[in-house]
Amino acid sequence: MSKGSFYFQTYGCQMNEHDSEIMAGLLADQGYTPTDQRDEADVIIINTCCIREKAEHKVLSLLGELRGQIEADPNKVVAVCGCMVQQEDIVPKIRKACPHVKLIIGTHNFHRIAEYIDRIRETNETICDIPTEELLIEEALPTMREYPFKAFVNITYGCNNYCTYCIVPYVRGKERSRDMVDILNEVRALVADGVKEITFLGQNVNSYGNDLDDPEAHFPGLLRAADQIEGLERIRFMTSHPKDLSQELIDVIADSRHICHYIHLPVQAGSSRILQRMNRRYTKDHYLALVEAIRKAMPEAALTTDIIVGFPGETEEDFQETLDLVERVGFDNAFAFAYSPRAGTPAEKMTNQIPLEEKKDRLARLNDLLAKWSLKKNQAYLGKTVKVLVDGVSKSNDRVLSGKTDTGKIVLFTGNEEAIGTLADVQVESAQTWILKGKRVK
Ligand code: SAH
Ligand code: SF4
Ligand code: F3S
Repeated sequence: MSKGSFYFQTYGCQMNEHDSEIMAGLLADQGYTPTDQRDEADVIIINTCCIREKAEHKVLSLLGELRGQIEADPNKVVAVCGCMVQQEDIVPKIRKACPHVKLIIGTHNFHRIAEYIDRIRETNETICDIPTEELLIEEALPTMREYPFKAFVNITYGCNNYCTYCIVPYVRGKERSRDMVDILNEVRALVADGVKEITFLGQNVNSYGNDLDDPEAHFPGLLRAADQIEGLERIRFMTSHPKDLSQELIDVIADSRHICHYIHLPVQAGSSRILQRMNRRYTKDHYLALVEAIRKAMPEAALTTDIIVGFPGETEEDFQETLDLVERVGFDNAFAFAYSPRAGTPAEKMTNQIPLEEKKDRLARLNDLLAKWSLKKNQAYLGKTVKVLVDGVSKSNDRVLSGKTDTGKIVLFTGNEEAIGTLADVQVESAQTWILKGKRVK
């Protein structure tokens, strides 16, 4: 018999999504059942993000929304976990938004979630357990994947880079790499379970292994080994830091059988002066040289990026350098953000904070340019036949399937549900800014 139902509300990046998949696996293992109906769930888990202020606002307003519901049904358990929880002084804020939160659990001990929820449901106690020290990384935890044929695989946890705007090193701890044997065993087990595509996850995948004694444990070596695993169709990874992306890595991808020709390479800014203030440890010229090396080895590779506008001290001239870099690279896609000050980071204390209106104006101008490039890049696919891993049916029409190319392009085409989880050949007939449409040819 089920112990009760649980519902996840997950914010933030793929790391958080994957943590939620593991927590869901642990809860299911202990006899709880998933539901997609938040209002009916016995347990609601909010996995939070604090990368920008907006992400935090979303969590606090959801907690406010849930407050009435919990008052009406005191047996409902609300749990809050994830990056936001690891910040100083956050517990009183959470309690203020929703005094009935029963469990607050950190990023280093989330694997105790099922045990804690069992206890709370038995004794109705309130638990708050936020370790500040990184705990040992547990292996072989059960997961509940969103897709049976796609999976995330952690390779590193935490981050040592301390970009001056970023909160991640403070809330996720120092960088820790998993053993290569454990990673490859997990991939093999996933493939045996029907997985065709894996995504290796780390804040900076290129520094994988730097903290291990094993001289063979480095990212190009890991990719090369994974590429040999029979039955695995696609290997993706994120995120690459430009300071650590090597020619060896580019060559491994270019020469591989299954590593997608797609690199997400966050540049953050086009001005070398701003990059230095961000502590990114590369220049605009270095970034452009990397792009050239990638294009030389893989002319058809897709490149995407993250950009921050309005970093403290960013002048209009600095911003023009970002626009210039975007024009020179021609990204397939990009995520652009207005700089958001984060408590405890060096950039928060810098003088010359940029007014919100100015940040919004720069963001709008940058987004226009990025959309122009995305359309242009998509138009280059017109008439071509691409291999698509079919994800599911489109939201608006169940006869339309949606999938992705190895370069990460979303492709819509007519077909039936049996194709989900398989690779299809699709000829591209129309190109829009964010999607391609086509017809299946095989
Ligand atoms: N580890 C990855 C990305 C982590 S966060 C990397 O180094 O690229 C994802 C993106 O959020 C970052 O690339 C950055 O563009 C953005 N970001 C991080 N901190 C931010 C802040 N304080 N304000 C605005 N955007 C931020
Ligand atoms: Fe944040 Fe920089 Fe680490 Fe990425 S590399 S998580 S931006 S500190
Ligand atoms: Fe990810 Fe947000 Fe944490 S971007 S690492 S969930 S702060």
